[in-house]
Amino acid sequence: MMYVTRREHFSSAHRLFNTAWSDERNQEVFGKCNNAAGHGHNYYLEVTVAGKVNPETGYVVDLKQLKDVIISRVIAKVDHRNLNVDVDFLRGVIPTAENIAIGIWGELVDHIPQGRLHQVRLYETEKNFVDYRGEA
Ligand code: NI
Repeated sequence: MMYVTRREHFSSAHRLFNTAWSDERNQEVFGKCNNAAGHGHNYYLEVTVAGKVNPETGYVVDLKQLKDVIISRVIAKVDHRNLNVDVDFLRGVIPTAENIAIGIWGELVDHIPQGRLHQVRLYETEKNFVDYRGEA
């Protein structure tokens, strides 16, 4: 099995808060990330596709086609947006890195041009990142 990864970048604003909680509870749990006017991150997204090497092309997946899918289905929807209000696939969830990665997985899993989606890795900062490999 071969694993092929495309890296993309986007910048977005978000605010972490749970609407079911009091202001005090939100502040206690989310701290600075609960700032009412939001804050921004420079996210890095790494999408990994698994598959066999096609003997005719030498590719697992055509990275140009994979890039186009990531741009149209994810980056165009999140770059320079507010993740709490602007993004259809994040409606109703707290836009943590975990929930953003789950949403991105859902956007991509049925649209991978060749091979199958193996992992979504999302860096929220240089030091903090999450890996999501689907429900199974
Ligand atoms: Ni944040």
